[in-house]
Amino acid sequence: MASSALPVPSHHRALVLETVEQGFSVQMVPTPQPGPGSAIVRIVEAGVISYHRDIYNGERTYEFAKPIVGGLSAVARIVAVGHDAVVLQAGQLVWMDCVMHARDNPDSLFLNAIHEGSDAGSRKLSRDVWRDGAFAEYMRVPLENCFRLDENRLCRELGYTTRELLYMMYLLVPFGGLRDIRLEPGETIVVGAATGGFGGAAVQVAVTMGARVIAMGRNGKELARLKDHVKKGTPGANIETVCMTGDYETDAAALQAFGTVDAVIDFTPAFACQSTHLKSAIRSLRRGGRCSMMGYVEDVINWNVIALNITIKGKLMYERDDIVLFVKMLERGLFPRGKDLVDPKVFKMEEWKEAFDVAAEWTGIGKTVMIEP
Ligand SMILES: NC(=O)c1ccc[n+]([C@@H]2O[C@H](COP(=O)([O-])OP(=O)(O)OC[C@H]3O[C@@H](n4cnc5c(N)ncnc54)[C@H](OP(=O)(O)O)[C@@H]3O)[C@@H](O)[C@H]2O)c1
Repeated sequence: MASSALPVPSHHRALVLETVEQGFSVQMVPTPQPGPGSAIVRIVEAGVISYHRDIYNGERTYEFAKPIVGGLSAVARIVAVGHDAVVLQAGQLVWMDCVMHARDNPDSLFLNAIHEGSDAGSRKLSRDVWRDGAFAEYMRVPLENCFRLDENRLCRELGYTTRELLYMMYLLVPFGGLRDIRLEPGETIVVGAATGGFGGAAVQVAVTMGARVIAMGRNGKELARLKDHVKKGTPGANIETVCMTGDYETDAAALQAFGTVDAVIDFTPAFACQSTHLKSAIRSLRRGGRCSMMGYVEDVINWNVIALNITIKGKLMYERDDIVLFVKMLERGLFPRGKDLVDPKVFKMEEWKEAFDVAAEWTGIGKTVMIEP
């Protein structure tokens, strides 16, 4: 039973993947009802990432149940909540986060609608309880995955649109990694694969956290755009760029030329796991330096890791505390506004193919793609 509610139709439109071979189709599906521990949300903006297409066409071998309503994180509006909700109410704008944890074992987690996780508990929940994602008009979500957004502050006083707020989908991920390695204001951090969606977001977040950033990438033109974007949105930001050569020693020397490096964060896709740039970045670290590995690169260890007390930490997504703090930072007005933050591309559910294709290309800092159901 809901404690407060807006009208919810008996059926709604959703983007359903029956099989990988068939692809998606827009279908009328029954609208779920709220129960204890859950909320029904109206999806406002549903995020599409650069490799959504590869996940749903089977190119990336992510395991998830089918049929499924696709999706990931979203900006949404609460329409009904279970009777155990204490702060969430119908009408509120929320961040609907895709990282779902088992309530009786938070270490069992999965990414809603794209990956069922890696244990029996996460597989059970992703298949039987929280299967369907945000590419739909309505969705049932765990209460704890809804984070209130102060709409008056964010949209009226600071002028963000819901489309711009959806960029949180990118920004939250490096925030998780950067907090995990305890990045401090004034420190210098190397961002690897800085020209990608998550790497670019890492640059924006690290600058906002008060760090000096050395953005590392292969594409000189995109590095120049990245630097311009950051300087425009965050005047006074300390940002340097290094165009990597692929030679371990040369790239390490180019980074060391900037002086003490305290930390590294990397978002290299697994298909580029042979790249030597992360090893070069780790080589540039000071004694006691830290590295957050959020992408996948092989062969990152050398003798300096031991000799210099280097910490290398893997990190999947972020923790609940990270989301809560991130929303506070956004509400305090620490991030740039409008196009200085992000330039969104928007699609309807029927345009899912185009949305996926554009998302694969519209990558890098300040770019995002979404479906508006
Ligand atoms: N740990 C987590 O929680 C988490 C969360 C989200 C994503 N990720 C990982 O982050 C990865 C990147 O995602 P994205 O959306 O940012 O992808 P993206 O926008 O496509 O960016 C890919 C980046 O990788 C670089 N790259 C590609 N091939 C390379 C090579 N051979 N050597 C060096 N760099 C290369 C690209 O550089 P160019 O511009 O030069 O092509 C670009 O900077 C994903 O594949 C995923 O595995 C991890």
